Amino acid sequence: MRENISSVLICVFLFFNISTCTATTAAADWWEDSSLYQIYPRSWKDSDGDGIGDLNGITEKLEYLKEIGITATWLSPIFKSPMSDFGYDISNFYEVDPIFGSLDDFDKLIKKAKKIGIKIILDFVPNHSSDECEWFQKSVERKDGYDDFYVWENGLDDPNNPGKKLPPSNWVSIFGGKMWTWNDKRQQFYLHQFQVKQPDLNYKNTKVREEMIKVLKFWLDRGVDGFRIDAVPHIFEKVNADGTYPDEPLSGSTSDPEKYEYLDHIYTKDQYETVELLYEWRSYLNKYQEENGGETRILLAEAYSPINVIDQYFGNGTHFGAHLPFNFNLMGLRGSSNARDLETSIKNWMDVMWNKHKTANWVLGNHDNNRIAYNFGKEKVDLVNVIITALPGATVTYYGEEIGMSNVETQCTEISCDSRDPERTPFQWTDGKSAGFSSSSKTWLPISDDYKKVNVKVQRGADRSTLNIFKELQKLKRSPAYKAFKDNGGWSYGAINDQVFQVIRSSPQDEYRILVNFGDKLEEIGPLSNSIEDNENIMEYFLLTSHSPHRRGEKVNLKSIYMMPFEAVVLKRIIKK
Ligand code: NOJ
Ligand code: MG
Repeated sequence: MRENISSVLICVFLFFNISTCTATTAAADWWEDSSLYQIYPRSWKDSDGDGIGDLNGITEKLEYLKEIGITATWLSPIFKSPMSDFGYDISNFYEVDPIFGSLDDFDKLIKKAKKIGIKIILDFVPNHSSDECEWFQKSVERKDGYDDFYVWENGLDDPNNPGKKLPPSNWVSIFGGKMWTWNDKRQQFYLHQFQVKQPDLNYKNTKVREEMIKVLKFWLDRGVDGFRIDAVPHIFEKVNADGTYPDEPLSGSTSDPEKYEYLDHIYTKDQYETVELLYEWRSYLNKYQEENGGETRILLAEAYSPINVIDQYFGNGTHFGAHLPFNFNLMGLRGSSNARDLETSIKNWMDVMWNKHKTANWVLGNHDNNRIAYNFGKEKVDLVNVIITALPGATVTYYGEEIGMSNVETQCTEISCDSRDPERTPFQWTDGKSAGFSSSSKTWLPISDDYKKVNVKVQRGADRSTLNIFKELQKLKRSPAYKAFKDNGGWSYGAINDQVFQVIRSSPQDEYRILVNFGDKLEEIGPLSNSIEDNENIMEYFLLTSHSPHRRGEKVNLKSIYMMPFEAVVLKRIIKK
């Protein structure tokens, strides 16, 4: 719940991105500047030696999250599933898949999490179920109450094959191929935005809406702190007044009609009803809270959508949706991006989401996207971790990014053949057998070759390791200057030149300058302040990364600073006692 702090006035004078002085009041609720951590349960810790991570493994290692400064962890799906999309195809929303354990194991996880102070957020996958879900099977058979649980349609008469049917529209699914599949038994097409094995639930049916609220309640009652909502933009599709489905226009970006990119998704993405549905779920969470007390339960929303749509998914001033609609902007950057690209990308979010709603979050990876080391280059992992923690708001770290894990070249196995396997390999705990992930030498995806060096155990003991830097960064996030993030005057950010990016965080008690050199060349910057006094030795090196030649505590003159290639540092103002 919110606490109140008295208002303060903060002024920071800068050459770059001058921020105005603002009086401030609000203290942040826990999630607003939280450090979130995504666990892909198959790959975090295997407790029973089957080579696949599980709930007891997570429980066993939960203290690690505390050690590295995490507030809450969101778990990719743990529910009963045939695993065609590794849990994003749920066959029973109220059960834990035996691969991950049991409901009892889940309760034990929650109990320990509450004891040590880590919040648990579950993946909520409302758009679709598995075709092996009882609901779908009943729907195929038109069983009472389930007839319209999914999106069924007769299809169009095929002019070339009398008696045959064509799909109701030209829509293409996200994983490629038609979005409609014919079901022989029901003699109709069903819609699936994702795999053929992931039929879309029909949200025009109030029974479906009620059922999904029941799902939320079931897990809230077991003590979860919130949900990450999967595939938000894909929940609704456009239907014409006469019940037909409109074709989508060609995008012109590919000539391959099997590819998702072939069409411009004006009728199958971000439809207006989605906003209302999110507000409905948020109201339910608010009501649950009023009735049950406790800290705020939150909604995270997965939406790869334009900022004006994300804006609505957050709220419209009177109604609210997701507390944190994920900000995927920075994932669009690459190793070749420079400080100015970074500034543009940050501004795209801040100009709308901060200015209107005072909310920000920074996501740098997940189980669907390449790792930081792959996208930016290994030498930039620390630098990226420094940036996302320097910015105001919440951070979302995908497991393994805190030690700089790499994409692993994987080959199809019996268990998996997914182009996303490279970023899903087992977490590297130690330099021992199977990187300490499993007692088995056979793991569901291979262990990265670099595990002898890139692992928690080794990095705990190494000064300026990615892990130790990450931990320091998390501590900084709890400092008064970082905590004052709701004060517009308490922070500023901007490119100093093409390669060097600066963030300033300040409060009446402390002040930090975070400097990052994106380039592979030495950069000279400065003066960084227009106050002569400021340019004298009033700051010191406080946090250093491996590319920095400096020592902690060394004084800095803001008149002129040299930054080594890929160097990232945090400077702290020296407080005179
Ligand atoms: C988004 C999830 O992150 C992804 O892994 C999954 O395949 C799709 N949604 C379908 O649920
Ligand atoms: Mg296991």
